[in-house]
Amino acid sequence: MNTQPAAGHNGDVAVDIANVAKNYGAVVAVKQVSLPIRRGEFLTLLGPSGCGKTTLLNMIAGFEAPTAGTVSIDGRDVTNVPPHLRDTGMVFQNYALFPHMNVFDNVAFGLRMRKVEKQKIAHDVEAALDMVKLSGMGGRRVKQLSGGQQQRVALARAIVFGPSVLLLDEPLSALDKNLRTQMQFELKDLHRKTGLTTVFVTHDQGEALSMSDRIVVMSKGEIQQISKPLELYSRPVNSFVASFIGEINQLPVARLKRSGKAVAFAFQDGLALDAGNDGAALPEDDADVSIFVRPESIAIADASGRAGNVVNAKVVSHIYQGTHTVTRIEAAGLGLLDMRVGGGQIIDQKPAGSAIDVHVSLDNAVVLKAVPETK
Ligand SMILES: Nc1ncnc2c1ncn2[C@@H]1O[C@H](COP(=O)(O)OP(=O)(O)OP(=O)(O)O)[C@@H](O)[C@H]1O
Ligand SMILES: [Mg+2]
Repeated sequence: MNTQPAAGHNGDVAVDIANVAKNYGAVVAVKQVSLPIRRGEFLTLLGPSGCGKTTLLNMIAGFEAPTAGTVSIDGRDVTNVPPHLRDTGMVFQNYALFPHMNVFDNVAFGLRMRKVEKQKIAHDVEAALDMVKLSGMGGRRVKQLSGGQQQRVALARAIVFGPSVLLLDEPLSALDKNLRTQMQFELKDLHRKTGLTTVFVTHDQGEALSMSDRIVVMSKGEIQQISKPLELYSRPVNSFVASFIGEINQLPVARLKRSGKAVAFAFQDGLALDAGNDGAALPEDDADVSIFVRPESIAIADASGRAGNVVNAKVVSHIYQGTHTVTRIEAAGLGLLDMRVGGGQIIDQKPAGSAIDVHVSLDNAVVLKAVPETK
């Protein structure tokens, strides 16, 4: 085991992933990723199925060896160190509990592997079970537990030996919605109590936004953006991130037109919309741009109390969601758009087929230079 602390190691970095790549034969699972993970942070790897989240997590844990690059934990290069000598606790995508063992033995497993003394095992297992609210359940068989309880056992097993990094691979994906929300709170609580550096994997953007200090958005084995939740939502750096995080409408490509400080977007069929904010951060005059607009930025024109940027549209359908309704409209010059309207009154007031004038606010729109279609 390599115990040399790296000279000049930055103490704020708990895990340092440097130029890591992983190929499975011809399949490139992780392309080339560099990612310093800060001590004590709750970091989420977010991306669609197959983008390389589990592979990256497995390389931190030591269950997969990188094809290239290095992984360091607390300044120590662990690229060639086996999992049980890495000081990482892991909850696997499918829990991977031992079904024939009881709860206590499942949690004690890692301690016995580390040859911990019997009395200390008894104490530490109970403390870990207490931490995940399973006190006194040590004697239960795993098969007698609900999904949520099994998930807690997996969590207790991952934290029982006091790892310096906690790795969680979609730990909540098998739970129903209510239990999932409850476990989200409990995981955050556990993080607050322990201060453990946590790497959490999910493909659920809502879960990522609500839980994380920072989010790493991945696609096809590459990092697209690393940001705090709010910044990711309001300032996505490319169309993949814009479309993946939250609901968003992509408008047809428009041409940016400046006159003095004012900026407008000219669409192909003659429609023009004002940019709303000043154009300092926007691309240059005459650039072709893709504009992304959240459903909450489109409102019924009369109700918005704002002049300008009014577009004629026709209601296509409504989806009632309790606190609000998502109404799909066909807007002249802009195509199909989803707008979000408070309550459910719009369903009766503007049934499918009705004409509707909408105000499209571009104050918070994401404007990116249009990328010419490839292929
Ligand atoms: N052992 C393996 N052998 C060959 N290909 C693999 C192996 N493990 C993963 N892959 C491939 O590597 C890519 C990344 O897989 P990975 O499991 O890391 O994705 P993921 O982001 O965790 O997806 P999911 O959200 O479905 O769990 C996929 O194309 C997958 O098919
Ligand atoms: Mg996975």
